[in-house]
Amino acid sequence: MTTKKLTAEALWRMKSVTPIPMLTAYTTPVARCLENAGVAVILVGDTVGMVEMGFDSTRHVTIEHMQYHIGAVRRGAPNTHIIGDYPYKADRDAATALKNAKFMLEAGADSVKLEGPKYDVIKHLVKNGINVVGHTGLTPQTSTNFKQVGREAADAERIVNEAIGIEKAGAYMLVLEHIPERLAEKITHTVKIPTIGIGAGKECDGQVLVINDAIGMGDKWPPFSRQYAHVSKTITEAAETFVSQVKGGSY
Ligand code: KIV
Repeated sequence: MTTKKLTAEALWRMKSVTPIPMLTAYTTPVARCLENAGVAVILVGDTVGMVEMGFDSTRHVTIEHMQYHIGAVRRGAPNTHIIGDYPYKADRDAATALKNAKFMLEAGADSVKLEGPKYDVIKHLVKNGINVVGHTGLTPQTSTNFKQVGREAADAERIVNEAIGIEKAGAYMLVLEHIPERLAEKITHTVKIPTIGIGAGKECDGQVLVINDAIGMGDKWPPFSRQYAHVSKTITEAAETFVSQVKGGSY
């Protein structure tokens, strides 16, 4: 299936009209599969650090890592909207964020995503013509665990206010991570930008999954992630067959 690359504006217009399927990718062959499958948006997430690089947190990822992976994904998916994710602290102030946005766009991203209520940074990027995606709820770069957030009334209110602030600052889309479904529904009805949920229930305008979780490539998955395949098992079985053929002298 050939896809037509969606602009940020086209994605914004999809709110409440067409659900938005988004997956992460980090490599060329996987990006090629996602484009062929008609995935609307590919997120080159800083999850790359955990699911592909063996780190125990996303905080070890650098802007150079992101450039490398964004370039690889772009070569595999030339016609798909790509979001480049800021690694930890690469968005620490407006000037640094703009410099690093340019690196990600040069590598092949169409827009950039940052975590948390960094309203001044978002405003500065948007003023400079960068398409920005916000991210609230669980924000892995600064959270100490991966538990659901927004269950208590005060925390839920904080997240709603962050969502409104991120929209006001000029983001065109918003990722909602690991919050209760009712809270995601409330935010989706409150803001005019599309919400993309990950572990946030089915009331969002779109859904995103980490590709390794979705295809069962790894050894553990977040409780909310569906596995559509079991790729680690397939690779292990293929390698076992190869090992036994070589050892047995048939290859
Ligand atoms: O880095 C990432 O893959 C993300 C998703 C979990 C939304 O931010």
